[in-house]
Amino acid sequence: MLTIWRAAQLVGVSRGVLQKKIRDGELESSDGLVSTEELLRVFSGVDFEEHGDFERVTRIKEQAFGRRVRERMLPSQDVLAQRLFAQSEELADVRRHLQSYHDLVITLRARIDEAAGASESKVLHELKDFVERGLSNALATKTANIYAIMDDVLKVMSSHVTVRPSGREFALEGHDTLLQAGLSAGLRLNYGCGNGTCGLCKARVISGSVARVQAFDYPLSEAEKLQGYTLLCAHTAASSELVIEALEADGAQDIPAQQITTRVRAVSSLGRDTLLLHLQTPRTNRLRFLAGQCVTISATCGGDEVRADYPIASCPCDDRNLHFYVAREAGDPLARSLFADALKAGDAVTVWGPQGDFVLAESQRPLVFAACDLGFAPMKGLMEHAMAAEGAESISLYWLATRADGHFLANQCRAWTDALDNFDHALFADADAGAGARAVVQAMRADVFVADCDFYLAGPESFVDTMLAGLRSAGVPERQIFTMAL
Ligand code: FES
Repeated sequence: MLTIWRAAQLVGVSRGVLQKKIRDGELESSDGLVSTEELLRVFSGVDFEEHGDFERVTRIKEQAFGRRVRERMLPSQDVLAQRLFAQSEELADVRRHLQSYHDLVITLRARIDEAAGASESKVLHELKDFVERGLSNALATKTANIYAIMDDVLKVMSSHVTVRPSGREFALEGHDTLLQAGLSAGLRLNYGCGNGTCGLCKARVISGSVARVQAFDYPLSEAEKLQGYTLLCAHTAASSELVIEALEADGAQDIPAQQITTRVRAVSSLGRDTLLLHLQTPRTNRLRFLAGQCVTISATCGGDEVRADYPIASCPCDDRNLHFYVAREAGDPLARSLFADALKAGDAVTVWGPQGDFVLAESQRPLVFAACDLGFAPMKGLMEHAMAAEGAESISLYWLATRADGHFLANQCRAWTDALDNFDHALFADADAGAGARAVVQAMRADVFVADCDFYLAGPESFVDTMLAGLRSAGVPERQIFTMAL
C-alpha cells in the first residue's frame, strides 16, 4: 500500500489528479492509501489477466522508469550507501522471517502428513490437502508488480520527507538541501540567510537521518544537538524516509519585512512595451516571501533614486531569482529608466518587502486564475507555487490583454498546457478591461462554474471589479475569491 503522494510520484501525475480519480471512484483507496495492484489497474490501460500482456507492459514501464531514473540527480555516494545499507538490512530481515516461516510450515506439513497417515480423520486429510495447495500456490512464480519494484528503487534514489505538524510531504533528490527541496515543493518553510548563519531554518529530526552538504556557522547548542535539531539549509536527507518538525508560515503575516541589496541579472524584452527585470539575491541573503506578494524596488539611475512597487512574478521555489514584468508607462520612473537602458546587468537594486496578502489559500478546490495584462505577474508566481505543491486537481488560467503585447508569455502558457495534465488556459483580447472581463466571466460560466473553485483575480481596477460582480452574481462565495488591483 502506498500513500497518495508516493503513488503520484510513481505514475508521474500530480497528487491533485490522483485525488480527483479517487473522488470520482475511478481509483480505489483505503484510509488514504492505494495498493500497487490498483495503481497498475488504473494506469496500465490494459487488463493484464485477460490479455496476458503483463510482460510486454512491464517491459515498457521498466524502460520508461529507467529513463526517469537516469534523468534524476543521484545523491552522494555516502548517502546512496547509507540508503542501500538500510534497504539491505530490511531485506535481510524479511528473508530471515520468510525462512523461519517456511521452516515452520514444512515442519507442520510433515507432522500433519504423519498424523494423517496413521488416522482416518476426515478433518486431518482435508487439512493435509489444504496445506499442500497453499504451499504450491505460495511457491508458484509470479512476476512482481512493477510499481512495487519502482517504489523500492525510488527509496534509494530519493528521500521522502514528511514535515510535522502540517503533515506536508516532499521528495528530495540529488545533493539538494532540505530547504531547497522543501521550497521547490511549494512549502512555506522558515528561513533567513540560506547559508547556515542565522539559524532560522532550525528544525528537529523526529525519525530518519540527515547528512551535512554545506558548511554552516550557526552554533547549535549541545542540548539542541541532543534533541535532534538540524539546519535545513545545510543538510540533506540521508535516509529514504525522514520526518522533521519545522516551522512553516501560515500566511503573509508570518513573513518578516526585509531589505536586501540584489543585483540585476538581466533586463530583457518580452514585447514592444513589456520588459522582464531579473534580479538575483546574494547567496547569503535570500528574500523570504510568498508567491503573489509585492515588493518595493529602488535603484539609482543617472544619479537619481527611482523606485516603484511591483508584484513578484517568480515563485519562492525559484531559488535566488526574482522576476518582475514592467510595462512602458510614463508615470512609472523606474519603468522609464529600464526602457531607457539605464540599468545594466550587475547593477545594485534594493528590494524592500514583501507586502500584500494575495497568496494561495489552504484549499483542495480547483484553482482558477483570471489576469488582465500585467496582472499575469502575481498569477505566474501563484501558478508556479500551485504546480510545485501539486495539491490542486486542476489549474485554469484566463488571461485578458488590453494592449498589443498583453499576452507577453503566451508561449509559456502553451508549454504548461502541453506538459501538465491538470493545466489549461484561455487567452482573451479587448481594449476595454471591463468589457473583456465580462467576456472572461461568460467563458468561465461555460467552463468552470459547475465546479467548486477558488478564484484569483489580478489586473486594473475596472477588470477586477467587473470580474468580482460577475462571480458574485454567479453565486461564488466571498471566501473563495481573492483579488489584487494593480
Ligand atoms: S541558517 Fe539561515 S537559513 Fe539556515
